[in-house]
Amino acid sequence: MSARNERDVIQEPGQAAVMVERVTEFLGPDLHDLCDAAEAAISDGGGFGWLKPPPRHVMETYWKGVLLVPERDLFVARLERTVAGSAQLVRPPRYNEAQATVGHLTTSFIAPWARGHGLARMVVQEVEDAARAAGLRILNLDVRETQEAAIKLYETMGYRRWGTHPHYALIEGRWHAGHYFCKDLNGENPVPA
Ligand SMILES: CC(C)(COP(=O)(O)OP(=O)(O)OC[C@H]1O[C@@H](n2cnc3c(N)ncnc32)[C@H](O)[C@@H]1OP(=O)(O)O)[C@@H](O)C(=O)NCCC(=O)NCCS
Repeated sequence: MSARNERDVIQEPGQAAVMVERVTEFLGPDLHDLCDAAEAAISDGGGFGWLKPPPRHVMETYWKGVLLVPERDLFVARLERTVAGSAQLVRPPRYNEAQATVGHLTTSFIAPWARGHGLARMVVQEVEDAARAAGLRILNLDVRETQEAAIKLYETMGYRRWGTHPHYALIEGRWHAGHYFCKDLNGENPVPA
């Protein structure tokens, strides 16, 4: 089932049509377009872990695998109906009663050609709405220090930085720091200022 809802397409006069939806299967060109978008983001330096694009069959297997993981919800962003980015909500496994209301926002990216249309903000909003609907209270995320646009986005959406790991990512022999953020979806302050 695809959760696409045509009412969610946002198009102001003279602007590109943007929408975000949760997908539970890949229809038509969506898997191909998602791979294209991910490859473009990876080549641009923001590839949620990948440093260079993997072979296409590996990328396709990855996305198909995401849909099979019970705790993962995949959201895609569309620009003019073409998949241009995505993010995932990772809910806690059922055995983790102590963290039953804690989730992760991960693997968020928008292809370079689709940036600046508000899609990333829409994706995060959609993930937060889904998290609330799933009974989650806290969302965690982490981001490499070099991802300035993403850091700005999360800060403006109420995410609080609570820590920095100096050995977050090893890239071409050099360690990069990464920042850890969290947000209380009830609007309360999850960490001291
Ligand atoms: C971060 C990213 C997802 C933003 O995508 P986008 O669709 O262009 O973002 P939006 O148009 O929704 O912009 C939302 C906010 O992000 C911030 N932002 C976006 N681009 C920015 C830039 N170049 N510089 C600074 N802030 C920026 C702004 O706060 C912006 O809000 P504003 O338009 O009100 O100023 C995209 O640049 C990206 O994929 N980067 C590489 C991957 C990555 O860093 N992923 C996050 C890993 S956790």
